[in-house]
Amino acid sequence: MKDAANSSPETTGLEQASLTHVSLSGYLDALLAQALAACGFPAESARVVRAGRPEWGELQCNAAFPLAKRLKRRPAEIATELTAKLGESGVFENVAVAGAGFINLTLSAQWLSRWAQAQLASPDLGVVQRAPSLVMLDYGGPNVAKPLHVGHLRSLVIGESLRRILQAVGEQTLTDAHLGDWGLQMGMLIGQIRREYPQLSCFSSDRAVAASALDEHALGFGMETLQNLYPRAAAACGEDPARMGEARDLTAALQAHDPGCIALWRAVRAMSLYSQQKDFAALDTHFDLLLGESDVEPVIGPMLDDLRRRGLCVESDGALVVDVAEIGDTQPMPPLLLAKSDGAALYATTDLATILTRVREHAPDRLVYVVDQRQSLHFEQVFRAAALAGYCERGRLIHAGFGTVNGVDGKPFKTRQGGVARLSDLLGDAIDKARERLSELSGDGHERIPAPERERLARSVGIAAVKFADLSSYRMSGYVFDPERMVSFEGRNGPYVQYACVRIRSMMGRAEARGLKPGTMRVAAPAERSLAFECARFAEVVASAADLLAPNELAEYAFQLAQAFNRFYLDCPVLAAQDCVEQRSRLALSSLTGRILAKCLNLLGIDVPQRM
Ligand code: ARG
Repeated sequence: MKDAANSSPETTGLEQASLTHVSLSGYLDALLAQALAACGFPAESARVVRAGRPEWGELQCNAAFPLAKRLKRRPAEIATELTAKLGESGVFENVAVAGAGFINLTLSAQWLSRWAQAQLASPDLGVVQRAPSLVMLDYGGPNVAKPLHVGHLRSLVIGESLRRILQAVGEQTLTDAHLGDWGLQMGMLIGQIRREYPQLSCFSSDRAVAASALDEHALGFGMETLQNLYPRAAAACGEDPARMGEARDLTAALQAHDPGCIALWRAVRAMSLYSQQKDFAALDTHFDLLLGESDVEPVIGPMLDDLRRRGLCVESDGALVVDVAEIGDTQPMPPLLLAKSDGAALYATTDLATILTRVREHAPDRLVYVVDQRQSLHFEQVFRAAALAGYCERGRLIHAGFGTVNGVDGKPFKTRQGGVARLSDLLGDAIDKARERLSELSGDGHERIPAPERERLARSVGIAAVKFADLSSYRMSGYVFDPERMVSFEGRNGPYVQYACVRIRSMMGRAEARGLKPGTMRVAAPAERSLAFECARFAEVVASAADLLAPNELAEYAFQLAQAFNRFYLDCPVLAAQDCVEQRSRLALSSLTGRILAKCLNLLGIDVPQRM
């Protein structure tokens, strides 16, 4: 039997291969360009877009208006000519001029079915693969001796999602956490430890003794204590200039490789990293490199010499600075400070040296920094300096900033005690809420799930909730951390999407158990059409999320797709379909939806539980 997919007219070019080259919107735009040319109209950058209102059809095109202006004709006339040409393509079921010259378009059901079928057959679900370039992603950025906090949460969640999205469009990625392990905070910490643990071998006046390695046992304290030492150090240095002076001296000593300082630094760095890696694992984030500020230490001296020699950095009041102001700056652009009079390396110094190192070692096409938007001035200064020095072109350096995580009161999130919220506590809260919610679902047979699986499920749902809440608002705006709302199974949230995905999988499982298989797609009912149309948008959404470094586009799409599926599930019986052609078509559409939803969640860094 010859089915619809095989009998597709040449012009629609819906072979599976074509899907690897073009998304639905790309295809329709090309079709519009052809129609414009056939009418003898200039090729405006006209586009076919989603209809502003569902009753107008699926799509619309407003090209007639700018053309009318240009050609000094009436928009309605132009729209009529264009409509006739578009109608010949066989792609649309309905093409009509509306109002003064709008064109409303509805895809043909047969054509849409074939597109969906080709998408189902595509291993990438139709996502167009690009010529690979190398993108280095810098995210996470935890600091030694400090627990990961709510700000690091965003960086980790957004950064990890970007890694996955970029890979999905065929980019190569290399990720690095850029640990904060070399600046003044280290001197502050060492000063505090010297006060509270003066007996430690690293403080011995005997250099050989001082250099001996320290582990947790030799230190006599663990991560909990270490995390409390830093706030005490910061408070003391803030109040007492003498303590701050001491911290500066110790930072300089560390950076000059004083054996005792190095031994202590190694021990606390290892201890911190060990605990931070647990947080990375809980969030399922992947780092190719786990380098720190300290790793570029050998590069700093030669880099400063080079900059000095070329007159790019100058001495100013004993400090070394690079003038990064540009003509036309509308904001004040202070010079970039690379060394204070004590010579110690600063945050900017290590960042600049890191750019130099990354370019030398990996030659990335782009370097993307997923860091709090409040650091935008820092990155602008560093990027300009890197460009001035010829280390990296400005256009390759991108700060993908993000807004703050807020509490329900709209202010930056704080713990009940008013402190900075730890990442592990935040995740714990969300997991607790998820556990509560899941136990309320006991009517659905939830109590039959064995306890260990239930616990895994609570973790999965809790973390999905946090990630989705973080990723579903545009990264530059802040978002409200509210476990209650994040974990509800209704509304725009992670568990809702997870649940739709689980539901599809379980239905597919039931179908398989009955020997039912997906067949040729023939979308007909309105809910089927809109679901197939949503599925077809997947490729352009992934492309746009990758271009704009905006996972929120994908999160929003996943929610809409889940909604479209739920409407379909309500309106169109699948297992209880009227005949087996309809049944197999609906199974195919469900299977496609399930795969796309799972892929969306995966790109957001969210997993799909076995059952919910
Ligand atoms: N450690 C920094 C912080 O906690 C973040 C590092 C971001 N990355 C970078 N290359 N500067 O604020």
